[in-house]
Amino acid sequence: MRATTVCAALTLCWSIGAAHPFGLHDVSRSQKPVGGTTLEPPSLPRPSVRQHAKNADICVAGTRQYTGSVPVSPEKDLFFWFFESRNDPANSPVIVWLNGGPGGSSMFGLFEEIGPCQTNEHFNGTVFNKHSWTEFANVVFIDQPAGVGFSTFKKGHDGGPDNLLEAAQDFSQFLTVFFHEIFPEAADNDFHIAGESFAGRYIPGFTHYINQRQQLGGDAGTRRAVPPIQSIILVDAVVDAFGFYISGHYDHFCGVDKNGKKRMPENGFNETACDSLEKEIPECERLATLCGSTYDPVVCETAVSYCDDKVGKWFNGDVYPGGRDPYDDRKKCGDNPPICEPFNGTSSYAGYLNSPHVKEELGFSDDFVYAGINDDISKRWEKSREAWVPTTRELTSILDTTPTRVLVLNGNNDIGVNTEAQNRIYDRLPWSRQAAFRSHEYTNWQWPDESGKPIKGGKIKTADDLEVKNKLAFVSVDEAGHASVGDQQEALTWLIKCWTDAKHQKDERCPL
Ligand SMILES: *[C@@H]1O[C@H](CO)[C@@H](O)[C@H](O)[C@H]1NC(C)=O
Ligand SMILES: *[C@@H]1O[C@H](CO)[C@@H](O)[C@H](O)[C@H]1NC(C)=O
Ligand SMILES: *[C@@H]1O[C@H](CO)[C@@H](O)[C@H](O)[C@H]1NC(C)=O
Repeated sequence: MRATTVCAALTLCWSIGAAHPFGLHDVSRSQKPVGGTTLEPPSLPRPSVRQHAKNADICVAGTRQYTGSVPVSPEKDLFFWFFESRNDPANSPVIVWLNGGPGGSSMFGLFEEIGPCQTNEHFNGTVFNKHSWTEFANVVFIDQPAGVGFSTFKKGHDGGPDNLLEAAQDFSQFLTVFFHEIFPEAADNDFHIAGESFAGRYIPGFTHYINQRQQLGGDAGTRRAVPPIQSIILVDAVVDAFGFYISGHYDHFCGVDKNGKKRMPENGFNETACDSLEKEIPECERLATLCGSTYDPVVCETAVSYCDDKVGKWFNGDVYPGGRDPYDDRKKCGDNPPICEPFNGTSSYAGYLNSPHVKEELGFSDDFVYAGINDDISKRWEKSREAWVPTTRELTSILDTTPTRVLVLNGNNDIGVNTEAQNRIYDRLPWSRQAAFRSHEYTNWQWPDESGKPIKGGKIKTADDLEVKNKLAFVSVDEAGHASVGDQQEALTWLIKCWTDAKHQKDERCPL
């Protein structure tokens, strides 16, 4: 038994055996730098971590669960919620989950999509989720950048990083502390980063940053590195916003048949809208190409504002209560466009997280207000013009210069980030196997239901590189909107298990 000194920071103090794969460790900063170093990193306060019962009131997870805050700079803390795998945690992969925004809290992913518990229909408690990713993985939900969700920015709740580099530095610092100080046993497990929507900007950016640091030998002061990233999993993720303007809206709403005639899909745009799109798309594409080749935030902002005005307007104009829901073409927009679905207030997971007993168990005072989206941070990313620069360059670098594999998932009912546009974006992505990937045909993929019966899940195509099988895989998902991993929990939990099981024995039915 190794005593833990984090008890001082806990209201719940557990006695934890070091024999268990994920016991808490002494989080004092006593680690000696490896190798000669001249620079000491600024000394930061210790992380505070608390363990909750496996089936604690706040989340009936069925496995050990921990929450905590990790100081990543003197004024910024990042909050995490960590759940052990339900099966063989010592040998299960570690998956970090990030929601998007910018400004969106990853607690949405926990309670509404892939977490081991989900909020109940009254939003006053949780229910066990048997299709959680914790069935096969240790999953860490992180609120970032600082200021989002339960992550705090000490100079007031507003503020926090509004650019990719600062967010990447903070995220990398978080992971260093997480894997070296809090759960060092986890550092030897396979490690993946997954996320949704605007995480299409975060994840390639962070991964690129972390890979570069690893190549330099780790942290400048301590030489501690984040474990190698086996793969990134991009769920309905925006890596190039222009794809949706250039082809996404047109393909999804005006579609053309084999003879080049508009087929006007059911619920599509009318003739006026489609004709106008045809006229405006070339200029939008010209500007988007400039943005992609310069990565200049001012150029990108100009392009976005042109494309939004001339192309996006047909879609944006349809988003009103009772109109189109940008996250799901099967639904009508609720009374809070443009989000359209309940996202705060008492009838949402955010309402649940604001219950006094939940905040108390997590270590937050009753006057702390949890918000699913930090609007201020969201606006500041837009204002800093950081929001619209693509991350296709980072993806190219990840594919060509690192062993990290890339899985792209997209719900076929997502409009805002639609499959049609994503197909083109990934076909256009320059990397060493681009020609092969682009020329491959999509084929159907299937998943087994509880009785083992194969069900069609959507379409798939993949490309290997010289060393790695399935270096890039694109998977579309039937009957799924923007929150595809939540809409098709059973199918996608099975598929992600296939993907992350790459090195081990796996189900022969796996399409990946
Ligand atoms: C949750 O709300 C429902 C409906 O109002 C109520 O019946 C139930 O007792 C509540 N549960 C808790 C734990 O408060
Ligand atoms: C076509 O659709 C747009 C947007 O939904 C609408 O404003 C316009 O009135 C429609 N035009 C015709 C001719 O139906
Ligand atoms: C809930 O969200 C709406 C729309 O974003 C916002 O206007 C409102 O202030 C939010 N309410 C709370 C309590 O955060």
